[in-house]
Amino acid sequence: MAERPLDDAVERVLAAFREEVGRGVSSRSEFERVKGRFLGREKGLVPALFVQLKSLPPQKRASFGARANAAKVEIENAVADLASDLERAEADSRDRAAGVDVTLPGRRARPGGLHPLTLVRRRIEDIFLRMGYSIADGPEVESDFHNFEALNFPPEHPARDTQDTLLLDRKARSPLLLRTHTSPVQIREMRRHGAPLRIIVPGRVYRRDEVDATHSPVFHQVEGLVVDRGISMADLKGTVTTFLGELFGRDTHARFIPTFFPFVEPGMQVNIDCFICRGVGCRTCHRSGWIEILGAGMVHPEILAAQGYDPERYTGFAFGVGVERIALLRYGVDDIRHFYANDLRFLRQF
Ligand code: PHE
Repeated sequence: MAERPLDDAVERVLAAFREEVGRGVSSRSEFERVKGRFLGREKGLVPALFVQLKSLPPQKRASFGARANAAKVEIENAVADLASDLERAEADSRDRAAGVDVTLPGRRARPGGLHPLTLVRRRIEDIFLRMGYSIADGPEVESDFHNFEALNFPPEHPARDTQDTLLLDRKARSPLLLRTHTSPVQIREMRRHGAPLRIIVPGRVYRRDEVDATHSPVFHQVEGLVVDRGISMADLKGTVTTFLGELFGRDTHARFIPTFFPFVEPGMQVNIDCFICRGVGCRTCHRSGWIEILGAGMVHPEILAAQGYDPERYTGFAFGVGVERIALLRYGVDDIRHFYANDLRFLRQF
């Protein structure tokens, strides 16, 4: 056999490669064999070209080297194409084995949304953040001291009965319980920060209630507390009226009815005229024309004093509002259980 000129070595390698590819490379093992035969670091035909290059006379090296490089690039690219063809074929056969038909139209992904209770909480937060309040929080497992004693509910006081407390450990020195309202955070914040104080406290609260259309043993409140010099009932009424106007529409009327909470003096219940019937009387307002919306009052001077304020110089107001209650009213939902059922047919409406 006549010896071919060495220049042809490049052509020979390329021709051999094209022949292999022409025959088809359809399996992973076939692919690995072809790749190894041409590009293998040790015995591959392409690296061998560069070994031969070194034994060439200097005047031939440049052209041989250029052609060897071009062959190397062509082969590397073709091998990369083979690899991705192979991957696609493997994925297709996996899909086929799994019964996936990639020619079917896709399922449309629906965008998620916020829970109605989150929407209401954020709405309340927005209104107060714009009024310069900051957001505070406190523990849901609370001491009897913060939930009751410091708020002027002495032991055995009948007002405790209205709270339907879930006790966790009644033998502890200060018994532990699940907080029945967000008011204990008033105490914590007054102790931590002094004055001036202007906070809201959104949070979860617990009561020993049977579940029905209007009750849940877990629900949410937003507490508000302002303490500063010269805070008066007028500030309380102005703030609460502004808040309710933002929430229910500016033509909403609020009325303030005296009531008892041990930690405020005077204490009041705030009603708004029913936004469904505008005061005429309907199912939502139980035919009264008014809807009970929040509890409020001026912080009891004894509570201010116990937290280290001079009640002659500092005064404050507080309020508490139920998030579920607002959401029921705002969205016209007739059963509180809808909020916890996680039924997408309900949740998608918000
Ligand atoms: N904490 C009271 C409740 O849950 C509401 C309230 C808060 C009343 C602040 C007055 C002032 O019933």
